[in-house]
Amino acid sequence: MADHVTMERDFFTDRTVLLDPYSWLDESRAKGPVREMDEREVVMITGFAEAAAVLLDADAFSSAIAAAGPTAPLPFEARGGDISDQIVEHHHKFVGSEQLVSYDGQRHTAARSLLSSLFTPSRLRANEAYMRALATRMVAEVVNAGHCEAIRGLATPYVTLVVADLLGVPEEDRAVLFDVVTSGPPPGSLDDADAGSSLVHLAQAVGQLFSGYIQDRRAKPQDDVLTNLATAQYPDGTTPSLPDLVMLSIFLFAAGQDTSAKLLGNAIRYLAEAREMQDTLRADPAQIPAFIEEMLRLEGSTKVTHRLARKDTVIGGVNIPAGSRVVASLAGANRDPERWEEPNVFKLGRPRIKEHIAFGRGAHTCIGAPLARAEVRVILEELLAQTSRITLSAAEHGPAGARNLAYEPSYIIRGLEALHVELIPR
Ligand code: HEM
Repeated sequence: MADHVTMERDFFTDRTVLLDPYSWLDESRAKGPVREMDEREVVMITGFAEAAAVLLDADAFSSAIAAAGPTAPLPFEARGGDISDQIVEHHHKFVGSEQLVSYDGQRHTAARSLLSSLFTPSRLRANEAYMRALATRMVAEVVNAGHCEAIRGLATPYVTLVVADLLGVPEEDRAVLFDVVTSGPPPGSLDDADAGSSLVHLAQAVGQLFSGYIQDRRAKPQDDVLTNLATAQYPDGTTPSLPDLVMLSIFLFAAGQDTSAKLLGNAIRYLAEAREMQDTLRADPAQIPAFIEEMLRLEGSTKVTHRLARKDTVIGGVNIPAGSRVVASLAGANRDPERWEEPNVFKLGRPRIKEHIAFGRGAHTCIGAPLARAEVRVILEELLAQTSRITLSAAEHGPAGARNLAYEPSYIIRGLEALHVELIPR
């Protein structure tokens, strides 16, 4: 079994951890990159090689708790060194079990194959033209105003509209979807035992809408992603059921909201505090993609994901018995000194930076990574091109060196609740 070490603060509920999860993760890693948390009966993985090994080993680690999180009890009593059959038998009892991210094996491969044909290069190119026009307009508005609250006033509406456009959600419904997205709890809320309740909220609120879109596209195909999804078939030639497609489309819509908006917020916050970096990127916008990768490594918006040990397994020399709930900390892995030189330092142009695991690894690797990278790049290009300087509002966040920033109360998402910036036009 993994080493038992107790930490003073609880990763899943302590609000002081929110502000700086990285020192908590560093401390945890120093006690062992794979360790059982006494305080939680959960195995915490903060080592890069170890987290990647877990995510790559879908045979030994089930995704059944990927949506529900590691803090909820298992819906059965694990028995023996291989609980594969028990997981299959009880899978429907896990919160969020109907979401793609929780699927295992063949069911996952089949569902994922429906999505793999959706983001064709020509579709992404067309979407990028939409992103560019939207970003140009939204950035011009906030730059004219001279300031903005960059999370709700820029990042969230922007990513919501981009994914709505990509999917083909009608314009008249986009405001409703935006309201739903911004009113629900975040994934992994500190106030909620179930990490999956944000998806449940979303599914209840927009299930009818998405069901309507899928039925509509089946009757009258259009040139959009929802039509591709509505008419897609499983690899064996069978047609997916309407509820399965509705769940998939809602998940697609949901998965890229908070994550992309918060990454964008983290990037703007970093830039607002790093004038030289702003100047470097303004002078050479071709470096913006490298900036985004290092941002993903240092301040990626997904701190952790979760797995359930299906079989007795050894990771990093530590025994992990079947039935263990495992937290693979992406943020911890991305700052592991065994893998990254000076891991807590921002370095533009780090060698092999794309090996970070901010988008996960293995069978469930983020399907929206190309979209997330493109949307963040396009709006950062516009922000830097239309301004000569971006600064944090001292009136809202206090003076430099003593900033007052509030992070979303989630142990999964790393992102600011609000970010007030001042923008000097070019
Ligand atoms: C910065 C933005 C984003 C981050 C940090 C992020 C992160 C992640 C991570 C870590 C996973 C893997 C979860 C696991 O293995 O348990 C994942 C899966 C997923 N992401 Fe993203 N994501 C982002 C944006 C997006 C966008 C824009 C979309 C789609 C429009 C998207 C769609 C998905 C889907 C469908 C999955 C599930 C894949 C599967 O289970 O096979 N994501 N994402």
